[in-house]
Amino acid sequence: MAANKSTRQPADSYATAYHAPVLVEEVIKWLGVTDGGVYLDGTAGGGGHTQAILEASEPGGRVLAMDRDPRAVEEVRNRLQDQYPERLVVVEANYGDAPRVLEELGWAPVDGWLIDAGVSSHQLDEAQRGFSFQSEGPLDMRMGPDAMPVSQYLDQVEQEELAEVLKEFGEIRGSWGMAKAILEAREDGALETTKDLSDLIVRRSPPRHHPKAKSIHPATLVFQALRIAVNRELTHLKEAVAAIPEVVEGGGRAVFISFHSLEDRIIKHGFRHLADPCRCPPDLPRCGCGAVSKGEVLIRKPVTASDEEAQKNPRARSAKLRAFQVS
Ligand SMILES: C[S@@+](CC[C@H](N)C(=O)[O-])C[C@H]1O[C@@H](n2cnc3c(N)ncnc32)[C@H](O)[C@@H]1O
Repeated sequence: MAANKSTRQPADSYATAYHAPVLVEEVIKWLGVTDGGVYLDGTAGGGGHTQAILEASEPGGRVLAMDRDPRAVEEVRNRLQDQYPERLVVVEANYGDAPRVLEELGWAPVDGWLIDAGVSSHQLDEAQRGFSFQSEGPLDMRMGPDAMPVSQYLDQVEQEELAEVLKEFGEIRGSWGMAKAILEAREDGALETTKDLSDLIVRRSPPRHHPKAKSIHPATLVFQALRIAVNRELTHLKEAVAAIPEVVEGGGRAVFISFHSLEDRIIKHGFRHLADPCRCPPDLPRCGCGAVSKGEVLIRKPVTASDEEAQKNPRARSAKLRAFQVS
């Protein structure tokens, strides 16, 4: 195989109106993209990373681009499929199901697996998707049809569970009271749109609801918590980390990018556990549990965006990239 490549164009040229990908050069570098390699982009979005990988693996590399959002699948097909008829396959699927999907398509195992977690700019920008508290839309927030709309979730969730979701996924202080207010408003028919929810949060949000309340809009974290819950984002991320040894070929790499601490913790601990799964007491002279390392954590501290990239693309400010090499 040829040596690792770099991006063919300047990194910011992969941005489209749909989404501006983060850490593009770093993704190509840490995936170790080579001519002829086979790659899974588990979060295709607008196809920016997909395109960079296709270019960096020319002329023989192939990419399976996957997204649970049919709109993303349509976008990547429309934009890139004609350009790469032989080297690109685009599928609608959840990356938590990657082992099954790859097996069915005959693509397993791959040389590199990228996950660029979270939401795309398109999902946030489209009011009808219900992700944003800045525009009025339905209480939806589904990344794809495999998730449950927020409206339905609020109709069936118990107050105790909602309070736990707000506390755990949004670090909302006073989560019990917030959960009660949300469910009461829903029952009264006063909670139908993202604006209703945002207004309710603002009305009920003294600064004590969150330590960062002065610097961010009070609705940010409630929306984040509900989005994570209905899309079961952390569950799928855990499934993906655990599936790395099955999905990625020996010597191949997984590069996962996160945008908040809950995701990063799962990736960091998950990678560490794959590298060193032994759970024997530390005073035991030799491992007795028989757990076998699945590979190596390639970077101790996550890679973050340069000041220049963070300035051009504010979303890149919270991006953290970690890489794992399967043995
Ligand atoms: C940050 S965007 C990816 C942007 C993409 N890297 C690009 O260059 O445009 C995240 C994408 O991942 C998708 N996604 C999130 N969770 C997913 C999951 N569990 N399975 C498949 N796709 C997922 C979202 O629908 C969204 O399109």
